[in-house]
Amino acid sequence: MLEIKNVSKTFFPHTVNEVAALKNISLKIDEGSFTCIIGTNGSGKSTLLNAVAGSFEPDRGEIILDGNKITKWPEYKRALHIGRVFQNPFAGTAADMTIAENIVLAMRRGRTRNLSRAVTKAVRAEMAERVSMLRMGLETRLDNPIGTLSGGQRQALTLLMATWLKPKLLLLDEHTAALDPKTAAKVADLTRFIIEKDKLTALMVTHSMQQAVDLPDRIVMMHKGSIIADFRDEMKHRVRIPDLMRIFDRVQKRDLFDQSVADMLAVQYL
Ligand SMILES: Nc1ncnc2c1ncn2[C@@H]1O[C@H](COP(=O)(O)OP(=O)(O)O)[C@@H](O)[C@H]1O
Ligand SMILES: [Mg+2]
Repeated sequence: MLEIKNVSKTFFPHTVNEVAALKNISLKIDEGSFTCIIGTNGSGKSTLLNAVAGSFEPDRGEIILDGNKITKWPEYKRALHIGRVFQNPFAGTAADMTIAENIVLAMRRGRTRNLSRAVTKAVRAEMAERVSMLRMGLETRLDNPIGTLSGGQRQALTLLMATWLKPKLLLLDEHTAALDPKTAAKVADLTRFIIEKDKLTALMVTHSMQQAVDLPDRIVMMHKGSIIADFRDEMKHRVRIPDLMRIFDRVQKRDLFDQSVADMLAVQYL
């Protein structure tokens, strides 16, 4: 379904600020699977999602979606097939526009031409029905500006809009991280509900170990631009939060050790 093949990306190459954000990453994602990506800050999780979405072209490697090599496709072309939700509740929607107007944009995504049709009664009824699935009472507020909604309501709506046209791939980048714990849990539940209902293929970056254990059928762990663990099938069912924490601990200790050795060597050669 999605294949990431030997993808590398270095920011600011050959400068003091050089960052190897992705180091020869390979990952195959099955159709209809739900994968969570976890990892320390700066480990390359967002960069990986951005590489798939086409925010930049990788230095090396290939990205294949549904049999198409999309590595050189521009972002807008990929957006026809890829739905995205970001961390910031203000990012995915237009605050001054109403819920209904925002949904119309989502319905027309990538199909701007020949689609000046008005919102018919039937379309409004469908909007109300699908919005009611969020169980936030928003179906009675279709004509309210999005700006009047809470962060959680906006993220739920953004999720609904990103999946309105059933994208081949759904990319979620810490989309619950800016919400309070209770709202985050609600949006996480909704996420699983929508992914299961529409049988979507999803890649979700999360900072929450709980979500990583509870929601997906696979957990991929990244560290410093590499994939360091991959739990699926039986392993995924068995893995618990302390197991994940232990791996984090281990890599962080190793980094500290590497750093102290580097410092020692630096002192030695001063
Ligand atoms: N557009 C960019 N320009 C320069 N450096 C970037 C850019 N995006 C990410 N980085 C760097 O790449 C590394 C990985 O970042 P990121 O993928 O955002 O990490 P994560 O999402 O895992 O926290 C970090 O060191 C970050 O500073
Ligand atoms: Mg990130």
